[in-house]
Amino acid sequence: MDFPIFHLDGMGNRMLIAVIAIIHVMINHPLAVGIYPLITLLEWRGRKLGDERLDQFAKRITFVVFIITTSLGALTGVGIWFSTSLVAPFAIGSLIRVFFWAWFAEWIVFITEVMLILLYYMTWDRWNEGRAKSWHIGLGVTLSLMSWATMAIIVAILGFMMSVGSWEQGSDLLTAVLNPIYLPQLAFRTTLALATAGLFAWFMIGLIPKSQQDLRVQVTRFVSAWTLFWMPFWGLAAWWYMSVVPDAMKGLIPLGMMTQKFITWQDALLWASVGVISFIGIVALTGLLKPRWVPRAALLIPFFLGIALLGHFERVREFIRKPYVIAGFMYSNGVRVDEVEFYRQHGILPYSSFSSVTKVTEENKLAAGKDLFVISCSRCHTTNGMNGIDAKLTKLYGEQWDPAQMNSFVRGMHLSHPYMPPFPGNEQESETLVAYLIDLHENPAVIAGAQVAGIPHPIGVAREEEQSERLDGGSVAAGLPVIEKQAERNLD
Ligand code: HEC
Repeated sequence: MDFPIFHLDGMGNRMLIAVIAIIHVMINHPLAVGIYPLITLLEWRGRKLGDERLDQFAKRITFVVFIITTSLGALTGVGIWFSTSLVAPFAIGSLIRVFFWAWFAEWIVFITEVMLILLYYMTWDRWNEGRAKSWHIGLGVTLSLMSWATMAIIVAILGFMMSVGSWEQGSDLLTAVLNPIYLPQLAFRTTLALATAGLFAWFMIGLIPKSQQDLRVQVTRFVSAWTLFWMPFWGLAAWWYMSVVPDAMKGLIPLGMMTQKFITWQDALLWASVGVISFIGIVALTGLLKPRWVPRAALLIPFFLGIALLGHFERVREFIRKPYVIAGFMYSNGVRVDEVEFYRQHGILPYSSFSSVTKVTEENKLAAGKDLFVISCSRCHTTNGMNGIDAKLTKLYGEQWDPAQMNSFVRGMHLSHPYMPPFPGNEQESETLVAYLIDLHENPAVIAGAQVAGIPHPIGVAREEEQSERLDGGSVAAGLPVIEKQAERNLD
């Protein structure tokens, strides 16, 4: 947790990651992972039937996919690592040490994938006869495998964050990759990608002009069969995936589907999801049996419904991991599970290099409280923006905020609200946090993150004065690195 803290007080840090990651998944699953096998199959079929139009339609889809994945797809893909490194450097720092070789491989596989997309598209018209066409289809198959491999690697990390499994005993890369969530989640995402690729292909069919009615009918039947084929596998994989999600996380699904305010809408949402899936099933069945009956709108709409569902699934999955960023190991605010007890006894401020306060006094109380809020709550709460703390407390207490009551809330919030981590500070620090929150209520003010406010020098004069005090607790392991670091710097 010892980093200068990046913070967005309006949209919130969670939302920053969520927006980028969800857009990425919406593009990546249908348009990168799922579509290449479908395109390659269309190309192969076009050759088999000697139907040039099928071939050209496959090429047209490739063009759109190529533009979107190499721009918005790549931008959001890299954006995920950029934004998560800003918001949760402690988590990415830990993960990259466990998954070093996986990430290294990902980098190579991803670049290979991008080069293959380029090659696949650009050689389409040149490699269109005899052997060359076989090579081109082979290129499509390789591209399909590579784009699946990029996902297969990353899913290992996502699974690990939800359950580290026996890694704590084994602690090698393979144990981490083969975490209990890995294969079920990979199966789920793979089948989901393949099924939603069909929805995107429908969308492209919807754009075929009326003058080419024959082509439209022919590919509608083909793509409907594809979608219908994958849907049961997707259902099975979903069931497998749900069976490995830990119970504590399952308990948070209702809250993850909606915020507290809308929690009573969850039934409606569940039915909406069932409705969307049934609608897609009906379109697919009609498309297979009576492709002429399928109106254009029915081809265009499922794609949007499908990606909305996909985005929502991703949001819920991210939510239910709370209060952890890495299950059982590290909380979302970067505090390691095994450190919490120490901080609850000795306080966290003396061990936070980038806080200007080490010891709370009457004068620095509000500044200290703000730092405590930033350290322990700001990964998930803003002051008055998204998931704003002031609104949450007002909802809870109305206008009468009783410090003693708030203090006991903070001390026990991880028990009453299991999706929040325990407050990582001692009694005096929680009182300080409460004093700050009350002041914030009376004098609303925005908190500037390190990216705006600048980074305080980690060793202020005040800190040196208190060094001796800190050494008292210095025998405890968690305190040592800070003290050693400072002693080292003092030598310069
Ligand atoms: C892991 C993310 C996370 C962290 C860290 C976190 N919270 Fe929360 N908190 C939430 C979420 C999510 C909600 C519920 C939002 C909703 O759906 O209304 C919430 C709700 C609350 C509520 C309203 C509870 C209720 O019953 O209505 C309060 C008060 C609160 N948080 C205070 C804090 C304080 C104080 C801290 C820091 C010491 C903190 N939270 C840290 C995620 C977090």
